[in-house]
Amino acid sequence: MSGPLSGPPSHVGIIMDGNGRWATARGLPRVAGHRQGAEAARRTVRAAVDLGIRHLTLFSFSSENWKRPMTEIEQLMELLRRYLRSEIVELHEQGVQLRVIGDRERLAPDIVRLVEEAEATTRDNRRLTLVMALSYGARQELTSAARALAREAAAGRLDPEAIDEALFASRLWTADLPDPDLLIRTSGEMRISNFLLWQLAYAEFVFTERLWPDFGRDDLASAINEFGRRDRRFGAAASTG
Ligand code: IPE
Ligand code: IPE
Ligand code: MG
Repeated sequence: MSGPLSGPPSHVGIIMDGNGRWATARGLPRVAGHRQGAEAARRTVRAAVDLGIRHLTLFSFSSENWKRPMTEIEQLMELLRRYLRSEIVELHEQGVQLRVIGDRERLAPDIVRLVEEAEATTRDNRRLTLVMALSYGARQELTSAARALAREAAAGRLDPEAIDEALFASRLWTADLPDPDLLIRTSGEMRISNFLLWQLAYAEFVFTERLWPDFGRDDLASAINEFGRRDRRFGAAASTG
């Protein structure tokens, strides 16, 4: 089903981009943009709950973002600590389940602990699954899935012929999540930047010039409206009606 009657997308992914440019345009340090970006994430999660979205994946820090200057990385990690400490109670009250995907080995041990606590606290919540992609790269996720399957095959526990799309997807970090229906990227950039390469196979893309720190409820609602006007065909013939 698609079109205006199909309701909100079940799973929305967002590439939250433009924090640095937002700050630079105001003569502020980049960290000021990241701080407002964290506010935008708070707003957007609340709006997603209100709009009836079931899964929201926020691209928060990519595998490639480790290439940034150490000071910026530390500022981002500090904001993340603060977010995890201050938001969990409210997220829990709102019925939000938090999950983190990405390479945890590269995150500081205290952040991993905060993530694990937040996941444990909210694990039974069903209203909205908030997936934070942290130290996340899709190529890293795909190669890790390939490695896991190869290991099982080499150990004689898996017949290579048994590897189909479902089995492969079950080894991804997103294993029990539906694929995103809608991908939003802010700040006018039109690229995927190593986000959910497998899972976005049939997502609808909406790009907006809005910089992430300015993003809010109305922008999310308008992206969802745009999604409602799309004709999703999944490879089938276009309807002629
Ligand atoms: C997005 O904003 C936040 C992260 C990628 C962590 P940027 O920091 O990429 O902002 P721009 O793209 O430089 O404006
Ligand atoms: C993508 O934004 C990653 C996140 C939003 C976390 P980037 O700003 O890192 O992407 P590029 O470098 O412009 O492709
Ligand atoms: Mg950017």
